[in-house]
Amino acid sequence: MLLRKVDDHEVSARRLVATLPMPTSFRAAVMSCDVDGGLEIESALPGTERFSVARMRKFRLGRTCAARAMNALGKNVGVLPIGSDRAPVWPGGVVGSITHSADISVAVVAASDQVAAIGIDLETSKVLKPSLAERISTPGELDGIDVEGADEGLLLFSMKEAIFKCVSRFVERFVDFTDVSVSVDTDRMTFGIRSSTLPALHSIRGEIFGLYRVDSGSVITLAFREATARQSALPSKPGQ
Ligand SMILES: CC(C)(COP(=O)(O)OP(=O)(O)OC[C@H]1O[C@@H](n2cnc3c(N)ncnc32)[C@H](O)[C@@H]1OP(=O)(O)O)[C@@H](O)C(=O)NCCC(=O)NCCS
Repeated sequence: MLLRKVDDHEVSARRLVATLPMPTSFRAAVMSCDVDGGLEIESALPGTERFSVARMRKFRLGRTCAARAMNALGKNVGVLPIGSDRAPVWPGGVVGSITHSADISVAVVAASDQVAAIGIDLETSKVLKPSLAERISTPGELDGIDVEGADEGLLLFSMKEAIFKCVSRFVERFVDFTDVSVSVDTDRMTFGIRSSTLPALHSIRGEIFGLYRVDSGSVITLAFREATARQSALPSKPGQ
C-alpha cells in the first residue's frame, strides 16, 4: 500500500478545523494537494484561462472541498463558477467560503436559510512581517491581541481576511484592511468588528460573529452572519 506523506501543516489544519466550534448547521471539508480524486476543471472555465499550473491545483482543490462540503449538506453540485468579484458563485440555498494555505484547502458551507454569509481563512505561515502587520492594522489594534502561540499580526490578518470574505457581498466598495477595526475576546476565542469607516459595514458590525483557533503557530478564523440578522439595504453584488 502506498502511504501518503502527511505534513505538519496538514495535521495542524485538520486539527484547527476539527476544534473550531462552528454552529452545527455548518459543514466543512479539508483537503491536501496530495489527495487524488479531485473534480475535473474544464480548461474553458471562465476566469481560469491565465491560471498557472500551481494556481489551478489550488483552485481545483478548493472547488473539490466545496463540493464535498456541499455534499454533506445534501447538495450534489459540480465546479462552482468564479463570480465577478472572484468569490465562488454558490448555488441557490447555499452560502460558503474557501481558503488555501500551503498545500491545503478548506471549504465551509451552510444552508442560506440559516446563515447569510461565511468567511473562512487559514494561515500556516506562522508569522506576518512586522511592516505588513503595521499596514493592515488601525492604531492600537494589535495591542488588543495577545494570544499564546500566535503571531498577533498573522492572527489579525487572518481575522480581516475572514471578515472580508464574509461581508464583501453586503458592501458596494472594496473593503480595505484599515476600513475595519477588529475587537478580540481572547477568553472566548472570538472576534468581531469593533468599528468600520464604511457606514454600510459599521451598521451591521454587531451581526458578524468571528471564531478563531491556533495550533503550532498556524491560525484559522471563521466569520459569519446569521440569516436572521437584519439584511443590509444595499443590494448584493452581481453574480451572487
Ligand atoms: C479576497 C482575499 C481575501 C482572498 O485571500 P487570499 O490571500 O487569496 O487567500 P485565501 O486562499 O484564503 O482565499 C482565496 C479564496 O477567497 C475566495 N474569494 C476571493 N474573492 C472573494 C470575495 N470577494 N468574497 C469572498 N470570497 C472571495 C475565493 O474562493 C478564493 O479561492 P479561489 O479563487 O480558489 O476560489 C484577498 O485576496 C484580498 O483581496 N484581500 C484584501 C481585502 C481584505 O482582506 N480586506 C480586509 C477587510 S477587513
